[in-house]
Amino acid sequence: MLATKSAIKPAIKKIIIPNNSRLHTPDFIYGVATASFQIEGGRQSRTQNIWDSFCQSAEKIEDNSNGDVACNHFQLWEDDVELIRSLNVDAYRLSISWTRVLHNDGTLNNKGIDFYINLLDKLIEYGIKPFVTFYHWDLPQHLEDKGGWLNRDTAYHFRDYTDKISRIFKDRVYSYATLNEPYCSAHLGYQDGIHAPGIKGKQFGKKAAHHLLLAHGLAMQVLQINSPQSKNGIVVNVTPTYPATDNIEDIKAANIADQDFNHWYIKPILDGKYPDLLDLMPEQHRPDILQDDLKIISTPIDYIGVNYYTRTVIQASEDDFYDIKDPSIMPLTEMDWEVYPEGFYDILTRLNNEYQLPPVYLTENGAAMPDEIIADEVNDLDRIEFFQGHLEAVHRAIEAGVDIQCYFAWSLMDNFEWARGYTKRFGLVYVDYETQQRTIKQSGFAYRDFIGSR
Ligand code: GCO
Repeated sequence: MLATKSAIKPAIKKIIIPNNSRLHTPDFIYGVATASFQIEGGRQSRTQNIWDSFCQSAEKIEDNSNGDVACNHFQLWEDDVELIRSLNVDAYRLSISWTRVLHNDGTLNNKGIDFYINLLDKLIEYGIKPFVTFYHWDLPQHLEDKGGWLNRDTAYHFRDYTDKISRIFKDRVYSYATLNEPYCSAHLGYQDGIHAPGIKGKQFGKKAAHHLLLAHGLAMQVLQINSPQSKNGIVVNVTPTYPATDNIEDIKAANIADQDFNHWYIKPILDGKYPDLLDLMPEQHRPDILQDDLKIISTPIDYIGVNYYTRTVIQASEDDFYDIKDPSIMPLTEMDWEVYPEGFYDILTRLNNEYQLPPVYLTENGAAMPDEIIADEVNDLDRIEFFQGHLEAVHRAIEAGVDIQCYFAWSLMDNFEWARGYTKRFGLVYVDYETQQRTIKQSGFAYRDFIGSR
């Protein structure tokens, strides 16, 4: 499970950013992020969602695991809040489990509501700003049974869910995100089939994406009424694309991939229209766009949340728009994702040039690394280097004029990494899944000290 590279204890490494950087100002918000299904467990007090079902189907999850217990945060949340507090962060980004707060008939599950209210109240008591995401991929199974995100009605169910919950939470939340990474929900869940609900087919991805975006727009309208005091927006994942060669075909392919991964989920929100790719797609792959949909989708947002992990290199393909080039020779994380901080700078400045951006919240950035445990220390120097490189890139993007206001490390602690189960560790805190013991890694200390040095 863990690679023990050497018995020599490495020196503690610091994150160092130029003194005059905006990253050192006290109003820049630093946080750690998690998601409900990945950490909570507490399966018996909620109903079935699509990830429960996906985990039950054979060979979908690398280690055949599930989210029934995960980090048992449902029971250990008070200790976890102490842990968050000990990291010196200004904010904590969490997601709400839809199937924990609503019964299948749409009525409130008070036990679930109380769980989140207590958590939010504790964070507030400690001066930690709660950033709440409504949907981090755990759709109620009963909605999937009626078509899930391929069914337009799901967008309206989502609106009702956000309406009920935002009324109950009152003014406890500093910032709401409607959705986390609609690309992953739509593309990985309904096109590639490698995430729940595991549906495969090019004709489905963009249809699911459209209903997700519609759900976002409808929820934004609700939040403007129920929670005008919070910062309300959406979180998208961005993957900058680079052509494999200077060849015009590769350049074109990289542009199409850029539209497919990135702009498809940004342009409708900020500009009220889909990218040109819409017209290039075969008719049967296109979403069903009704009148006013794009108007709803482009309801103004207070911020755009951006998650960045890696880039892709694209080459033209004979039988499709593009191919993704294998990054095997690059420095890779345990996910086989290339470590490429420059991509963070590139995508932020590209987006800033292309759009009239609202304030940018960097809502996830981090890496799965082969953590090394020596005695009771976790020496993850490669993760510290990752943060060093990426925070430098953020600093440079700010210097170049991008209005960036927060940065969240993914993740507070090791957790259920979707199709990879518990085999990949992204945490600043190490979790022993047998004992549920948490140990702050060297990267956690480095992040804490960096934040504390402001
Ligand atoms: C995402 C999700 C997280 C993942 C993380 C690492 O960005 O995919 O928001 O839930 O765990 O990104 O893959």
